[in-house]
Amino acid sequence: MNAAVLGSGGREHAIAWKLSKSEAIEKIYVIPGNGGTCSESKCENVSIPLSDIEELSRFLIEKETDFVVVGPEDPLAGGIADWLWSREIPVVGPKKAGAQLEASKDLSKGFMKKYGVACAKSETFTNLDKALDYIKRNPGPIVIKADGLAAGKGVVVAPNSAEAEKAVRSFMRDGLLGNAGKKVVIEEYLEGTECSILAAVSVTKDFTESGKSTIVPFVPARDHKRLLDGAKGPNTGGMGAFAPADGITEETMEQFESDILKPTLDGLKKEGFDYRGFIFFGLMVTKSGPKLLEYNVRLGDPETQAVLPLMDFDFAEMCQSILDGSLSEFPVKWKKGFVCAPVAVSKGYPGEYEKGKPIKIDSKIISENNCQVFIAGGKIEQGVLKTSGGRVLAVSAFGSNLKEARHAAYKGMQGISFDGMFFRKDISMPGAADSKSF
Ligand code: AMP
Ligand code: GLY
Repeated sequence: MNAAVLGSGGREHAIAWKLSKSEAIEKIYVIPGNGGTCSESKCENVSIPLSDIEELSRFLIEKETDFVVVGPEDPLAGGIADWLWSREIPVVGPKKAGAQLEASKDLSKGFMKKYGVACAKSETFTNLDKALDYIKRNPGPIVIKADGLAAGKGVVVAPNSAEAEKAVRSFMRDGLLGNAGKKVVIEEYLEGTECSILAAVSVTKDFTESGKSTIVPFVPARDHKRLLDGAKGPNTGGMGAFAPADGITEETMEQFESDILKPTLDGLKKEGFDYRGFIFFGLMVTKSGPKLLEYNVRLGDPETQAVLPLMDFDFAEMCQSILDGSLSEFPVKWKKGFVCAPVAVSKGYPGEYEKGKPIKIDSKIISENNCQVFIAGGKIEQGVLKTSGGRVLAVSAFGSNLKEARHAAYKGMQGISFDGMFFRKDISMPGAADSKSF
């Protein structure tokens, strides 16, 4: 089989890497890919803009691509899956209607409430005065969320009403996020530990009629969003992840399945979505059980870099089963152990950051420590791998216990260097992911 992976980050590198391990896969086109995917076995980078759907489908058809995995949310929200399916190209990624579960916070909260998914109480506002009035009656801590896609900048956890007012004014009046912030969701603050559950989804009208629609959760993972050790400093796209996440008891998993996963599946079926792809449940595990903070309609980054190396099954075959309705019978098996995946970033990140710094990777140190390097922001220039993004790469290491995985990942990190390189030293340590800001 030939596959294509759309996207250019660390998540896409991990997806391409895992697909390349499948005996059934001959070739993987990574579009556009990055400086890591181009040297992965069976992989070839192809520079076609994802917006050029005609050129993209022409290429995929010419190369007899059996399926396409879409990495990021933007093309999904824009309807890339609908376009490709209409040209009979199978896509692992939801069609536009289902992808709105991530693209609009208001819509996704509406879905959660309609189908009884356990989540925080919330109200949606399009009028600034009404939003300010609501904050007066519900002083902080409270959470302000811009309705639209805002590249991780759309959520403010406000410790008090002054901060909450500032946030709604900047979103609704000053247009800080453009149209994405004209509508806001104001949400009850939940206290607890965060956890990400990625899952494979296979839902279509046909599968639902024949009893085949299903969601299969992966092992829980945990992202570390703050820049600095001890969960301090500004928010980032993710400074590292590990899996399986600790503190997720069997009881929590059962509650997740009954209070979040099942009603979500029910909702996807009842809405009649064609949702064959992945879903990301962003959870807060509170004293009264797990609550859903958000859906993402794709795999998480950097969670994917920690979860995929734990898969003890053929990921390409899983993608096929998502597409053909056999996911409920798919033999899911996980390696017994842990993966820790710290991320190295460029100097200045998450603000303006340096680019174009040569990246040195000591492959002996990497392989001796059971590590895998997933490039996120790196590209080849004149034959040299150089930094091109804020988050540059993740070092994913396997260990039979978490301490071993962490130890190996940080030893692996010693084999990486670039000018201005920075990484957190506490990924997967107890409490390192708590992002409470007050
Ligand atoms: P979201 O994009 O909705 O996942 O929000 C981004 C981050 O904001 C989450 O990962 C949490 O750290 C935080 N957050 C979102 N909603 C809440 C909430 N209701 N209570 C506490 N923290 C929240
Ligand atoms: N790690 C969070 C995300 O992928 O959105």
